[in-house]
Amino acid sequence: MRGRPGPGCVVVESSSPSGQVSGETVPVTDVLACPHCSAPLTVGEKAATCATGHAFDRARGGYLNLLVGGRLPAGTTPGDTADALAARRRFLGAGHYAPVAAALVEAVGAVDGPLLDVGCGEGYYLSQMAPAEALGLDVSKQAVQMACRLLPQHQFVVGSAYRLPIRDASLAAVTSVFAPHPFEEFARVLQPGGRWVTVTPGPNHLQELRPQFTGEARAKALDRQQRRAEPPPEAAWSQRVRFELTLDATALSDLFFMTPIRWQAGAAAAVAQGDGRSVGVDVWVSSSTSPG
Ligand SMILES: C[S@@+](CC[C@H](N)C(=O)[O-])C[C@H]1O[C@@H](n2cnc3c(N)ncnc32)[C@H](O)[C@@H]1O
Ligand SMILES: [Zn+2]
Repeated sequence: MRGRPGPGCVVVESSSPSGQVSGETVPVTDVLACPHCSAPLTVGEKAATCATGHAFDRARGGYLNLLVGGRLPAGTTPGDTADALAARRRFLGAGHYAPVAAALVEAVGAVDGPLLDVGCGEGYYLSQMAPAEALGLDVSKQAVQMACRLLPQHQFVVGSAYRLPIRDASLAAVTSVFAPHPFEEFARVLQPGGRWVTVTPGPNHLQELRPQFTGEARAKALDRQQRRAEPPPEAAWSQRVRFELTLDATALSDLFFMTPIRWQAGAAAAVAQGDGRSVGVDVWVSSSTSPG
């Protein structure tokens, strides 16, 4: 990633009619769009507003809640829960997925403009990419609060991956790590020549943690495994990253609680086996560049 001139700003380079490249400094928050009407959001210290009159207060901690739509039942937590987030913070902070982060950083490469991490969770992968200018978005308010505290220099947003509150053709890069990756939305928000990078599970990812299925559940599991044998078809480039982890009981439990495997019937048995367990990580790191 390239260095940038001062916090909160990026240099947007544009070609003048004479073919010369000119530099213009704009705040990274100039990429945000109103989730109600898609008009550009003007982001101030206390709130973000659009020309139509929609307003969004900045929360304590600095993030913006741009999630709109139907009201959720009281007590519902969209996205990751607090215990899953705490487990993820401990597990990732211990460096167990460092090879995944390294492959992501390499695939993203030098970014000449704002980067958005979709489904940013508690912020680990943004902290590893360390882009000069970045936004993190997650549907979980608790995840965004944790990410905000970890990386106060970046802008975080509570929002939906499927309707990104981001202006058309405004981002240099979009990443999604084990998170939703609606490629049409990525194409809409990327500048010409911008790049998306995803990390998605491979066929044998965390296989040792998965329960032994029977009947219909087994057929579904085999089908999922087969789909994961290939990277996303939208990718122009992919790399498979595989490595073994030997985990103590705490790390094993954290890994279990930070993944959706915890919701599968019978899954707890693997974790009960405790210390010194070997678990295989198997992921696809994939990317594509927008025409332009
Ligand atoms: C498995 S976690 C991965 C988090 C983080 N990228 C990491 O790898 O540490 C998936 C994340 O996607 C978020 N998420 C799920 N559905 C989402 C949606 N529709 N829009 C935005 N974020 C979503 C969850 O809240 C969660 O933080
Ligand atoms: Zn609006």
